This record gives sequence, C-alpha cells and structure tokens, in this order.
Amino acid sequence: MCGIIGVVCQEESRRIAEITVNALKRLEYRGYDSVGVASVSSRGIEVRKAKGKVDDVVRIKRIPELTGFLMIGHTRWATHGPPSDKNAHPHTDCKGEVAVVHNGTIKNYRELREELESLGHKFVSETDTEVIPHLIEEFMKRGMDSFSAFKAAIRALHGSYAVLAIVKGERKIYFAKKDNPLVIGLGNGMNFVASDIPAFLDETDRVIVLKDGELGYVTPEEVHVETLEGNVVDVTKRTIVVTWKSESVTKGGYPHFMLKEIHESPVAVEDTINGMLSDMETLTEAVKALAEARRVIVVASGTSYHAGLYFHELLLSEGYNSLPIIASEYYTVKANPSDVVLAISQSGETLDVVQAVKSFKTKGAKVISLTNVIGSALARESDVALYMRAGPEIGVAATKTFVSQLASLALLFSELTGSFKEEIKKIRSILERTIETYEGISKEWGEELAKKSNAYYLGRGLGLPLAMEGALKIKEVAYVHAEAYPAGESKHGPIALVSPGFPVFFINVDKSDLLLNNHAEMKARGAETFAISSNVALGADHEIVLGLSDFLSTFAVAPIIQLVSYYAAVTRGYDPDKPRNLAKTVTVE
Ligand code: G6P
Repeated sequence: MCGIIGVVCQEESRRIAEITVNALKRLEYRGYDSVGVASVSSRGIEVRKAKGKVDDVVRIKRIPELTGFLMIGHTRWATHGPPSDKNAHPHTDCKGEVAVVHNGTIKNYRELREELESLGHKFVSETDTEVIPHLIEEFMKRGMDSFSAFKAAIRALHGSYAVLAIVKGERKIYFAKKDNPLVIGLGNGMNFVASDIPAFLDETDRVIVLKDGELGYVTPEEVHVETLEGNVVDVTKRTIVVTWKSESVTKGGYPHFMLKEIHESPVAVEDTINGMLSDMETLTEAVKALAEARRVIVVASGTSYHAGLYFHELLLSEGYNSLPIIASEYYTVKANPSDVVLAISQSGETLDVVQAVKSFKTKGAKVISLTNVIGSALARESDVALYMRAGPEIGVAATKTFVSQLASLALLFSELTGSFKEEIKKIRSILERTIETYEGISKEWGEELAKKSNAYYLGRGLGLPLAMEGALKIKEVAYVHAEAYPAGESKHGPIALVSPGFPVFFINVDKSDLLLNNHAEMKARGAETFAISSNVALGADHEIVLGLSDFLSTFAVAPIIQLVSYYAAVTRGYDPDKPRNLAKTVTVE
C-alpha cells in the first residue's frame, strides 16, 4: 500500500518527470487515493500533488512539464487522514527545503508531532508521514549534515516505513526501509529507488533488494547502504538481474490488466511448475517438513487464503492434520515446535501474514512460505522459501497468481502424496482451452450478474475455496454483494433470502451427487442458477460442463469465475484494475 519512486540522474531535464510518471502508473495498484511528486532542480524543490488517480493528477498538475535532476513520487492508500490534496505526499518541512514520500505507518507520530510543534514546527496535513521532513529539518537546524539528520530522523521512528527524502540543492535521494518493500534499480547515468521492480523496469533490470534496517542514499553514480547501527553494507554482490520483461507490466493491447493477467495464467502456471521443479532441493525440503509435521497451519489473507483452503482440503483428503487460519486471526492459534506453518502470499509483504509468521516462529514452529516476489519479507522470515513464477501482477484483484498458487500447492501435495502426477502436466493446456472456449459464456454470465445486487456461491469439498474466491472476486471488482457457503449449509439460513431470480452460483467439482440436491432446493425457491460442473450436470439455468476430472476442473473454474467478475465489473462501468478502497499489497494491521 502506497507506491514510492525516486529517480536521480546526471542531467537536469524533463526526462525525470517522464520516468516518474511512468513509474507512478506502474505503482498505482498500490494505492490510488492521491498522487504527488517533488523535484529538485537548480531552482530548488517543487512539489505538485493532489487527490485523484495518476492520469488525472498528472494532467491537472502538469507534472510532465517539471524539470530537475531528481524526482520522488508517491501513490497513496490512505491510512492516517482521509484522501485529500493536503494529505497527499510528498510532505515537506516548514521551509519547503526537505520533501519526503513514505509507505508505512509511524506509530509514535503523535508524540513526535507534539514535540516538533512545541519547537515551532508548523504542520499542514493529518498524516503520520509529515513528522519525517520536520525531524530532518530539526536535526539539520541543530547542525547535522543532511545524511546524519536523515539517519537521526529514521532512528526516532517507531513503526514501519519505506521512506525517500530529498533536500534542496542535493543530487541525492535518501532512503530507509523497515517492514515495507524497497528496491534499488541500477541504471546508466541514473539510479532508482522504488516500492517494487515494475516501477523502473523500462529503464533497468539490475536490482538490489534492500533488507529491513538498511538505509542510505543513491546518487546518479553511487549507491551507499548502511545499517541503522551505522555499519556500511557492500551491496554490489547483491545485485540481481531480473528476468521480468517490460511488456509484462503494460496492458499489451488488453483494455485492463485484469483481463490480460487472466489470459496470462496458462503461461504463469507453466513457469511456476517448471520453476519449482527446477529447484528440487527446496521443494524436497518443504515436502519433508510437511511430512514430519504433527499439524500444518496454513496461514494467508484474501485470495491467498482461498488458495490455502484449497491446500487444506487436499491435505484433509489424505488424512493430514491441517488448520487453515486467516492471517489477521493468528493469535487464536497456539503453535508449538511440532507444527509446520505454510504461509501463502502473492506479494510476500502482507503485514497480517508476516506478523502471524513472526509470532508462530517464536513458538518454535517451522515456516514454509509461498510467494511471488523474490526476497520479500515473508520469504526472508521463512525456513523454506518456495516461489511461484507468475510474473508481476498489476491488477489489484489476484487472478493469474491465484491459479499459480493452486498449481504450486497441487504440486506440493503431489510430491507429498504421489497423487495427481500426470494431471499436473495438463494444467496449462486445460487453462488455455478453458479461456478460449468459455470466455464468451463467462461474459454473458457476467452481464447477467451485473444486473443483480446479491449472489450466493456454493460448493463442497475442493469446490468450496473456489466458491469463496468467486464471491470475493465479484464483490471486489463489480461491487455485487456475494456470499459463499458450503452448499449443504445453505439450507440453514442463507436460503431465506432466495426468491425468484436470486442468482446462485454452483461450483460443482466435488461431491456432485450431494450438490444435485442443493441445486434442487434452490430451484424450488425460484433461484436463477449458474453452474460450473466437472462431469455431472446439475441442470442449472446456465451451466458449463467441463468434461474433466474433479481435480483438473478446479483449475478450469478459476479463470471462469474471474472472467465472470471482470465482465460484470466492466458492464457496470467500473475499472476492475482499481477497485475502490482496495490496495494490492496491504501492509497495515
Ligand atoms: C489485498 C489484495 C487481495 C489479496 C490480499 C492478500 O487485500 O487486495 O487481492 O488477495 O491482499 O495479498 P497477498 O499479497 O498476501 O497474497
């Protein structure tokens, strides 16, 4: 949540604004409440910012006209203070000679603000971030050079932060990181610091992933990193060359990232499976840990939680002791050293998941993580780090990464139990065929659901996590209120709402014999029924019969429910890439 970018180059030019605007567009998925930039040129610091989306703010504030030798930029997902022009980043000190962008939460900002106000500092926003430029100003006033003042300011903060700061007249971007992601990009005659790699992928593929507790500065020629304690860190050996292609972070002819990324899921799954199999050592280590576990605690949030539930269902089917837990409820579980925690997170940065894992570790549990981002916080916290290779996902709603999660978890289960070995090889082609064959029908279903205010998604066994994901997706992007239930439970309350025309969506990929009755119960109340069935048709008003095994059908269901939600959103006139109030990566409690 919140995207930050910093660019510093040798020449003073407009190119800096072009690169920053491009980066802000790439970072917009991290928050779209407000946007702002600050440049440093021979004329001093200039800030332009406002509430609104990147394209609008860039146009209204004429950001491309700014020149300078460095620029920082920010897209905001509001935490402290509502979305507004004055709460938009960058924030400055009293004299406008220091500017700061920040992603995270400063827990002690009230005390710091009171102290600074008592010293005469004037605040203009309601944000926690604004204390940072004033702290830097205060320390500089006391005689420190700017880097020492920056370090002193960072040491005064309690909480989480990825921070960039600039000072009038300096060709340097100061940075610090704790609990929020920050990466450095190494360019030619210019360097970058950003929340994530896609921000500068057009300019360079050479990256250094910063660790918690590191801070420093970049100039056009130099990267200086040290720890909070002041020990200089040699990061040259940590340079990695990323294989992500720049095209993977553009819409490539599709109207939205969400649609493009649904279409990318066959390749994402193939890359994920091949990638995991190419690192057999890590996979075997994970399998060994799971096999020896007395209990597997599966922990995740949002869509990743549904992938976790899918794994839980697989484990249950073979008699394993598994406990799925929504990450923000981790404190309800007493972990012990015989537990193995499987933490699943696309970003690897979701604070709820990271906190849960940190807590389970203190109880002696071993941690396996499954993420899509190399070097993410979660991967660093884990004993065994498994990676998907789904490529960058820009749409806020998870699509291809959900399918890749299902595939990686199916592979893990297959290695653990020996089942589904042959079927896993077919997932890519099943996904390709599904999207090609059923996109038209999914569009029709989406258009139909767009007319409704409420919907139920029902399933049993392996179908239940997919029903939950279907309901979440249509809520997230089309704002249709939807609830998922185990189909058998629907008669214990939910059915009270069903009247003629009420849409009920069946994920019929497990226990079809039982779902036949649940479908009949809904039809008897006049429900308009939709079904995705593996083999046995329910006789729904709208039905896709896949003709696949139950196991392979779960993979085909995923893009269909995503396409239905996508087309429902578009029919209703919403932008599915930027659902209101949501952020792709949630790094607050
Ligand atoms: C946010 C996103 C969801 C995502 C969830 C977990 O709420 O809007 O799409 O599923 O975070 O994200 P993670 O990166 O941990 O998978």
